[in-house]
Amino acid sequence: MKAIIRKVLAIGAALAMAAVLTTSAVAQGGADLYKTKCASCHGADGTATAIGTKMGAKNFSDPDVAKNTDAAWTDITTNGKNKMPAYKGKLTDDQIKDLIKFVRSLATKK
Ligand code: HEC
Repeated sequence: MKAIIRKVLAIGAALAMAAVLTTSAVAQGGADLYKTKCASCHGADGTATAIGTKMGAKNFSDPDVAKNTDAAWTDITTNGKNKMPAYKGKLTDDQIKDLIKFVRSLATKK
């Protein structure tokens, strides 16, 4: 009987841990990641900052930019392009996916 209780407690602890890990992954989702990693050049709302503009970044809602596919954006974010830094190895594929989803929401907002 004791062994069963111990097992149940162990499973409970594992589940609680998994829940904590999942929550922190969500908290670091697209919007948060964007704020910390991308907004300095691309602006909080997708309008390029002065620094970003100087480097050649355009507004995400610019029709010439917004017409690009998610796949193209994923490639640019992963591998970089000109002054746009590459995030390969710094962000996971899932994080980049969340980011592109968020960038798309900025691009189509206006
Ligand atoms: C140091 C400044 C800087 C940071 C930080 C930065 N970018 Fe960029 N980004 C640029 C520049 C400059 C370009 C334009 C590249 C070009 O076309 O020459 C660009 C282009 C892009 C494009 C392609 C837009 C298009 O033309 O279709 C995407 C998507 C993008 N960035 C996403 C991101 C994401 C996501 C992050 C954060 C993980 C990020 N960027 C962080 C500077 C930056």
